[in-house]
Amino acid sequence: MSDSLLSIHELRKDYGDGRQILRGISLDIPKGQFVGLIGLSGAGKSTFLRCINRLVEPSSGQIIVPSAVFLEAGQAKGSMPAMLDITLLKGGQLRAWRRKTGMIFQQFNIVKRLSVLDNVLSGKLGYVGAIRGAVRVFNAEERESALINLERVGMLSHAYKRADALSGGEQQRVAIARTLMQEPKLILADEPVASLDPKLSETVLEILRRVAAEDGITTIVSLHTLEMTRRYSDRVIGLAQGEVAFDDKPANLSQEVVDQIYMRYKQAS
Ligand SMILES: Nc1ncnc2c1ncn2[C@@H]1O[C@H](COP(=O)(O)OP(=O)(O)OP(=O)(O)O)[C@@H](O)[C@H]1O
Ligand SMILES: [Mg+2]
Repeated sequence: MSDSLLSIHELRKDYGDGRQILRGISLDIPKGQFVGLIGLSGAGKSTFLRCINRLVEPSSGQIIVPSAVFLEAGQAKGSMPAMLDITLLKGGQLRAWRRKTGMIFQQFNIVKRLSVLDNVLSGKLGYVGAIRGAVRVFNAEERESALINLERVGMLSHAYKRADALSGGEQQRVAIARTLMQEPKLILADEPVASLDPKLSETVLEILRRVAAEDGITTIVSLHTLEMTRRYSDRVIGLAQGEVAFDDKPANLSQEVVDQIYMRYKQAS
């Protein structure tokens, strides 16, 4: 489908110990959608997100992405096929996909001894090269772009502070600015607010949602509270035991469905 960013077919994962962690996930995610991912601890949320950027190798299945995602602005498509299967990518193409895929983690993964600005600049290299990138010299255009992204997350006035002087919520805002340096087409955020109190969680999710909408970035974010999931998601996907147990608008997330996803069954009285 031309307007989907990800078409996932029968995605399966086992880590080789006989347990099926993902049991055939099939989903189509349109460009620009902001998807909330929920499920009990161990349901496979992190595994699912990591399969999408191949931090975890899927056991089988396809993840189909339009090849236009890989092109830089103005670059011609040449002989590339219209669609690429992420599960088959190697070498330079896999690195290109990872550059187009921003990853945001619960623990922020900020380099504490570096300045806020240098942390953001390191996003130019993608999250894989963040520490190595700290020794690289960035040009004026890159520095300007880093300052603009800091402004977008409300952190411009902190640019020259050391990152360890920031609160958790501020560190996560810097992590979002760093991800924006990659000019991602997709953001995968794995419990980005699980370490933050409710007020800061809202600030961070509001910022993430706003910048994703501004740049048309498709976003999948795993969340641990239903209230926030309902409030910020265009669509909610609930995983239970490695399968899609719910996939609909947040308004349709009834108590019954929630109980099913979190496997809370009413005791017979
Ligand atoms: N590298 C690994 N090797 C073996 N088993 C793993 C590995 N990573 C995850 N698992 C197992 O896969 C299952 C799903 O884990 P996953 O981290 O994807 O769940 P999750 O939904 O993200 O949970 P949480 O909410 O606790 O973060 C768990 O049973 C976990 O123990
Ligand atoms: Mg997890």
